Amino acid sequence: MLDRFLKQFGKQNGEKREERVSQPAESALVPPDLEEEGIESSKNPRRDIPTKPAKSPDEATTIVFANSKGGVGKSTVAFVSCLKLALKKPDFLIEFIDLDRQGTTSESLHRFANKKFKLVSDPEFLLASGGVNNARIYQHLKSGFQLKSENEKRFVFFDTPAGTTPTEYSFMLDTDYLFVPTSASDADLGATKKFLSRLYDANPLINGGKIKFLPTVVVIPNLLEDRTEILTIYRNLREFPCFLGHPIFYSKVFRTTFNYGISDHNVVDLLRITEDFGDWLVNIVCDHSLTAYTPSTLHQI
Ligand SMILES: Nc1ncnc2c1ncn2[C@@H]1O[C@H](COP(=O)(O)OP(=O)(O)O)[C@@H](O)[C@H]1O
Ligand SMILES: [Mg+2]
Repeated sequence: MLDRFLKQFGKQNGEKREERVSQPAESALVPPDLEEEGIESSKNPRRDIPTKPAKSPDEATTIVFANSKGGVGKSTVAFVSCLKLALKKPDFLIEFIDLDRQGTTSESLHRFANKKFKLVSDPEFLLASGGVNNARIYQHLKSGFQLKSENEKRFVFFDTPAGTTPTEYSFMLDTDYLFVPTSASDADLGATKKFLSRLYDANPLINGGKIKFLPTVVVIPNLLEDRTEILTIYRNLREFPCFLGHPIFYSKVFRTTFNYGISDHNVVDLLRITEDFGDWLVNIVCDHSLTAYTPSTLHQI
């Protein structure tokens, strides 16, 4: 059974890691060995929690990369994702807001900034106490933007630091997409589990409160050594009513992600090696219908 699942992610073990990075996730909705436990993709009952309705054209689509754990790839995946969207959708207006005081991602993205790709920095996004100013973020998102053509759409990406909690970063509960990168290590999975538990516990809807919609939550398996690690992540997080996204394998190419020298070779290599992931991500965030439901348990898309 495990073999069958692994094959869905491409070639067998024993190849170079770099070659595995672009394996298509295909449409394995639930790893087959779990079918034995009576869980099938088509029978994954959907929780009766509505996700956000389709956007009006002038509303920004908001995308957050978060996990309370550091080193899981939040900044890396945010970096790759917004550049990929900018490349594939040149008509879109893309904003990047770095809520990490270290500013690694925004420093590296600086040289790509132009009229359509903006790094939005406002000292008021962060509070002196170290937390985030949720009200200021809402204010920014609501600030009117005149979209100039029918093809134009506004996307706002957020990178967040380690240590975020959904209670403190409450704007996260109100975004469209919340991507949660994790590796398959025990430490990362433990922290991710805690983060997701807090996210669902903190959501007033689940507690019988008034918020109507949840963000689309997608776990991104990152830093994978081999395909069995996808199953490890699945097994550890299967209880959560969210999506399991396209995997990203470990590669040395990522070491130079945040190199902001004069050459863009590092970025070209990075985008090449994450091509399938990037294409997948652009599809997900541009087509609301792909995630317009809440699965009852972790559900691969
Ligand atoms: N798929 C990957 N393969 C190899 N190294 C990675 C990968 N993803 C991230 N990294 C590296 O791991 C480190 C932590 O990533 P980073 O994006 O800074 O994590 P976070 O923002 O969650 O703290 C960085 O050095 C980054 O280059
Ligand atoms: Mg980071």
